[in-house]
Amino acid sequence: MTTLAGTSPPILHDAEALTDDALRDLFAYPADLAAPLFRANFIASIDGAVTLEGSGRKLGTPTDRRVFGRLREVADVVLVGATTACSKPYADIRMSAEAQAWRLSRGLAATLPVAVVSSRGVVPPAVLGNVTVPPVVLVAANADAAARRVLDESEARVIELPGDRIGSAAIRNALGELGLYRVLVEGGPTLFSQFVSDNEIDELCLTTSPKLVAGPARRIAAADGHVEINMQRRGILAGGDGTVIVRWARY
Ligand SMILES: NC(=O)c1ccc[n+]([C@@H]2O[C@H](COP(=O)([O-])OP(=O)(O)OC[C@H]3O[C@@H](n4cnc5c(N)ncnc54)[C@H](OP(=O)(O)O)[C@@H]3O)[C@@H](O)[C@H]2O)c1
Repeated sequence: MTTLAGTSPPILHDAEALTDDALRDLFAYPADLAAPLFRANFIASIDGAVTLEGSGRKLGTPTDRRVFGRLREVADVVLVGATTACSKPYADIRMSAEAQAWRLSRGLAATLPVAVVSSRGVVPPAVLGNVTVPPVVLVAANADAAARRVLDESEARVIELPGDRIGSAAIRNALGELGLYRVLVEGGPTLFSQFVSDNEIDELCLTTSPKLVAGPARRIAAADGHVEINMQRRGILAGGDGTVIVRWARY
């Protein structure tokens, strides 16, 4: 671990020098949460693209994949929009024995659910079919009737919320009522953009993948109107593969 000149405690960390438990401790949520804390995790290219050839995973690096796993291991719930939920990492979130031991020693449940936000109510069968940890589905009141029947017949905890687009505050309240306070928002850009626009994001762990990609990709957040949220840099993790991960927080 290296100390960034003039900072105390150290904020610059060498990823290879940290064990998995040390990474979990580094990214642990505050112990005294009384309401949901929304931490987003994204990867972008150096030039700000959120995807490469249509996929965020193609920007991934070994350091990013390692930290992606550790961030899940310190959370109560992984929150995603319906499109992101279709990709492979949401079918079955597994916790290693070591991760479960770390979680239980800190009062977290051994495993965690995925929560999917959807206006239409269409949730991938692979996510709905996970009976080990049934998902939470936050669905708009005007959801498609057939899709809603599928949800109701599944093991999912289905929470209906008003409107076509579910508001950020309603999502926060719903997760809070379930006691899910350590919220890891894994995107995608549509869901995250709404949280930024609504001023409802508390933290962002942003991985910079060591690539310039140009192309037509989106940014991690976009909105019609200008938004300004001042963030503080809380930690920098550098990987030997060129990856840089910065944890930004508003508190
Ligand atoms: N670089 C990264 O770290 C990263 C992370 C995640 C995703 N990605 C990439 O991003 C792309 C997907 O982007 P995306 O923006 O479409 O993903 P997304 O935010 O996961 O999904 C958008 C969909 O989620 C539902 N949704 C989101 N917010 C909602 C709200 N407030 N109320 C109701 N429904 C809501 C809607 O689906 P319905 O209308 O169908 O219900 C919406 O069309 C993929 O290419 C993926 O690889 C990259």
